[in-house]
Amino acid sequence: MQYTDRQERLKERLALDGFEIVWLDELDSTNNLSSELALNGKENIVISEAQTNGLGRLGRSFNSAEGGIYESVAICLDEVFPEGEEPDLGKTLHFPLICALSAMRAVSEAVSESFGTDIIPDIKWPNDLVIKDKKISGILCKAAQCKGHWYIICGIGINVFNDLSKELEDAGRLADLINADDLDAEGQKEFLFELIAKLTGEIIRNIKMGIVEADRLLDEIEEHCITIGKYVEVPERNIKGIARQIGDDGALSIETDEGEFEVITSGDVVIYK
Ligand code: BTN
Repeated sequence: MQYTDRQERLKERLALDGFEIVWLDELDSTNNLSSELALNGKENIVISEAQTNGLGRLGRSFNSAEGGIYESVAICLDEVFPEGEEPDLGKTLHFPLICALSAMRAVSEAVSESFGTDIIPDIKWPNDLVIKDKKISGILCKAAQCKGHWYIICGIGINVFNDLSKELEDAGRLADLINADDLDAEGQKEFLFELIAKLTGEIIRNIKMGIVEADRLLDEIEEHCITIGKYVEVPERNIKGIARQIGDDGALSIETDEGEFEVITSGDVVIYK
C-alpha cells in the first residue's frame, strides 16, 4: 500500500467529517504530532508504521518497531459534553479506560473476522490490554487546549507483528497469540489496516459518548477488567488488598487487609494470582 493509498483508504472507510488523517512511515511519537495538530485547532488521526521515540506512561518509553500499531486520535471535547455544559477535564479521567475498551472491542472483532478465532483481551487497570497475562497494548492520553477548546489526545500502541526487545518480559504480540505469523507481508498490512479502521471508529464513537454514556461504558469496562476481584499491590503507595471496583472517574478502589478502602487514580498495580 502506498503512503497516500492507505491514508485515502482510511479516510474513505471512516467517512468522518472534519478529522485530518496523517499516516506516515516513521515519526518520533504520534502523540507529539497529534498534539501539534490539535493546537492548530484540528481534530485528527495520526498513525505511524514505527516510532523513534514512542512515549509510555510514567515517563517510560514504548517499544515501537515496525509491525505494530502506533496511533493517536485527537478529539475536541466541545461536543462530548451535553449542550451548554462547559468541558470539565475532571470528568474525563475515565477516558483512558474507554480507549482500552475500544481497543478490546476492535481486537476481538478484527481477529474474529480475519482468523475466525474468538479472543477477548482483558483490561488491566489503569489502561493496558492483556491476553494470557501478556501486555499487548498500552494507552497514553493527554489533554491540549486551543483557543478555549479542549482536546483529548488518545495515544494507543498495539503489539501485533513487531519484534519485542527481550527485556520486555511482560509484553506479548497479538500475532503469537493467534498464530498469525504465517501471513505474508501484504496479508499483515491488510490485517493492520482492518484493526486500525475498527480501533479508530471505536475510539471516536466511544469518547464522543464518554460523558453521556459513562455508566454503561464503565459497567462494560469493569466486566472485562482483570484487576477486579484480585489481590493487588500498589508498590508506590504501599497498599495491598483486593481490588473491588472502578469509580465514575475511573479510579480503582481497593479493600486493604485492614478492611479500609483506598482509592488510587494512577500508577502501577501488581496483580497476585
Ligand atoms: C504505556 O503502556 O506505557 C502507554 C504506551 C502508549 C504508546 C502509544 S503508541 C502511540 C502513542 N504515541 C506515543 O508516543 N505513545 C502512544
